[in-house]
Amino acid sequence: MEKVRIGLIGLGLMGTPHARILKKVEECDLVAAAEVDEKQKKVAEELGIKFYKNYEEMIEKETLQGVILALPNHLHAPIGIACAKRGLHLFVEKPIAPSVAEADRLIAAAKENKVQILVGHQRRFSSLVEKAREIVTGGQLGRLVGVTITWALLKPGSYYEGPLSWRKEQKGGGPILINLIHEIDNLRYICGEIDEVYAQVSNRIRNFPVEDTASITLRFKSGAIGTVFLTDCSPSLTSWEGTTGENPLLYSDFGNCYNFFGTDASLLFPQMKRRYYADPTKVGWNYPITEQGYKIPREDPYIKEFSHFCRVIQGKEIPRTSGEDGRRTLEVTLAIKRSGETGQPIRL
Ligand SMILES: NC(=O)c1ccc[n+]([C@@H]2O[C@H](COP(=O)([O-])OP(=O)(O)OC[C@H]3O[C@@H](n4cnc5c(N)ncnc54)[C@H](O)[C@@H]3O)[C@@H](O)[C@H]2O)c1
Repeated sequence: MEKVRIGLIGLGLMGTPHARILKKVEECDLVAAAEVDEKQKKVAEELGIKFYKNYEEMIEKETLQGVILALPNHLHAPIGIACAKRGLHLFVEKPIAPSVAEADRLIAAAKENKVQILVGHQRRFSSLVEKAREIVTGGQLGRLVGVTITWALLKPGSYYEGPLSWRKEQKGGGPILINLIHEIDNLRYICGEIDEVYAQVSNRIRNFPVEDTASITLRFKSGAIGTVFLTDCSPSLTSWEGTTGENPLLYSDFGNCYNFFGTDASLLFPQMKRRYYADPTKVGWNYPITEQGYKIPREDPYIKEFSHFCRVIQGKEIPRTSGEDGRRTLEVTLAIKRSGETGQPIRL
C-alpha cells in the first residue's frame, strides 16, 4: 500500500504525542517535523524523521501530500494558507482559528487550492460517540427531547502558570474556548445543528479575566433543547475526561457526563445505558424501567482520526470533521462566550 507523506508543524504539548501516534498509523509516512524550538529536535531524532526549524523550508524541500498543524491558534490560518498554496492537504488542530473571519480565509484558501481541511475534533472518532450518534440519529430514543452535559473538574494551579498563562487571558483562553468547544462539536455531531444559545458565566472562584464556570442553554434546529454546566474549579469526575478515559494523561472513573432524553428512551453516556419501558402496558414513573447495555470496542480516536486524514488525501473518504464543521463549532462556541458577556441570548 502506498503510504501518504505527511509533515508535522509544531512539536509542542499536542504535536509531540501526535508525532508518536502518526508513526503508528498504517497509511501514514511521517516524513518530517518543523518546530521553532530547537530543543524539540530530540523528538524528531527519536522517531527517525527529519527536523526543520523553519516550516517553509520543510514544505519546500520535502515532497509532502499533507501537513498536521499543531500550532498556537493564531498561526492556524496564516501557516495553513501558506501550506494550502503549496497544494498540501491540511489537518488543523482545534479550534480551526481564533475567529470566524480567519476560519473563512483558511477555508477559502483550501478551496482555491483544491486541498481538504480536517479539524482536530478527535472525539468524533471515539467509538462511544459513534455509537451515541447511531442511537440518537437512528431513532432508538424516539424523538430527541433534550440533552444535559456536565463538564466539571479541577484544573491544578500549574495549568495557568508560566508560559501557559495565556490560558487565563480573554484572547484565546478560558475553558469555553479551550474545552467546551469539544462538547459543542460532540453535540452538533450527535444531536444536530444548534441555532440559539444563552450563557451565564462567572469568574468568581479564580478571579481570572476569563470565566471559570458557565451554565449554558442551547436550542437545536430540531426543537430539542439542552443544558451544559461547566466548571474547572471543583473536585469532580463528572466530565468527558473524568468518565471516558480517553485522555491518558488524566485520571478517570466510571460515571456519566452526558444524558440524552428521547420520547421513547434515554441514554446515559459514556456508560451507554439505554433506559425504556419494555412492556407497553406498563409505561410511566410507577413502573420499573428496563436498562439495555451496549458492548463497544474501544479504539484510539487519534489513530482513527489520522488514518482518516490519510484516507481523505487518498480520495477514499470524505472529511468527517471538515473546515466548515470546525467553523460552525467555533461560531457556536464564540456565540456562547458573547452571550456570557452581554447577558443576551444569541440566535445563530
Ligand atoms: N484536540 C485536542 O484535544 C487538543 C488538546 C490540546 C491542544 N489542542 C490544540 O493543539 C494546538 C497546539 O496546542 P499545544 O497545547 O500543543 O500548544 P504548544 O504551545 O505546547 O505547542 C505549539 C508548538 O508550536 C511551536 N511553534 C510556534 N510557532 C511555530 C512556527 N512558526 N513553526 C513551527 N513551530 C512553531 C511552538 O514552539 C510550540 O512548540 C492548539 O491549537 C490547541 O488548541 C488540541
